[in-house]
Amino acid sequence: MDPRVSVVDKRLAGIERIIAVTGGKGGIGKSLTSSVLALTLAQLGYKVGLLDLDMSAPSAHVILGIDGIFPEEEYGIIPPEVHGISFMSICYFTGDEPAPLRGEDITNAMLELLAITRWGALDFLIVDMPPGIGDAAMDVIRWLKRAEFLILTTGSKVALVTVKKVIQMLQELQKPIVGVIENMKMRESGLVRDELSAYNVPLLGAIEFDMDLEDKIGDAAALAESTMAARLTEIVIQDPRFKLSQN
Ligand SMILES: Nc1ncnc2c1ncn2[C@@H]1O[C@H](COP(=O)(O)OP(=O)(O)O)[C@@H](O)[C@H]1O
Ligand SMILES: [Mg+2]
Repeated sequence: MDPRVSVVDKRLAGIERIIAVTGGKGGIGKSLTSSVLALTLAQLGYKVGLLDLDMSAPSAHVILGIDGIFPEEEYGIIPPEVHGISFMSICYFTGDEPAPLRGEDITNAMLELLAITRWGALDFLIVDMPPGIGDAAMDVIRWLKRAEFLILTTGSKVALVTVKKVIQMLQELQKPIVGVIENMKMRESGLVRDELSAYNVPLLGAIEFDMDLEDKIGDAAALAESTMAARLTEIVIQDPRFKLSQN
């Protein structure tokens, strides 16, 4: 076994809850949701970390408008605090150059990030997961033993096909599922409810498609005021099933 794997647990030891934001496909809103959830929890006064584990297309730094900072080295690396969030991403090392990583390189890069990052004490670590149920996602699920999974879908049959696979896989591995969010909702439909009725997962609610969201990308203050932030507060953070402890 790679010796770094055993270091990961130690690095995550001071973290109360690890929330991994996942979903079947790309483009479903994982990065937006991870970033806005992290911002919202930080605004409520929780100590929050955000880890972007999309090695091929990291984007949380673009969403939060993070540029020109670099983590400090001290027996590992300390994630810089931006907008009240401790933020770690491969983007510090690759910039906005596309990182043409494949297979084992992706595993290596993710493991390296997890093994070197010193989060310290956090109430929440929000993880922007690699897409889908490929090797990269499976690696992360294996390493982040305590993670709880927040699953995104859209109201499309196309997204739901893969979301069902994700749910099945997480349930087979007996991983806790926070619930499913329907993102980019554009019309009333019972499709998500009907398609997922057999799976025994909490359906947390929907985030509507927000025409103005694009203008808020890169602007953390505007994102914190967005409908997505309001919805995440309402359907995740304030839902008793999320079991938020008072800080
Ligand atoms: N509720 C929403 N309303 C409008 N646009 C959204 C919404 N959620 C996500 N988007 C947009 O969809 C695109 C994909 O989102 P992103 O978070 O990058 O997805 P993923 O990380 O799953 O690939 C982005 O351009 C984002 O701004
Ligand atoms: Mg993404």
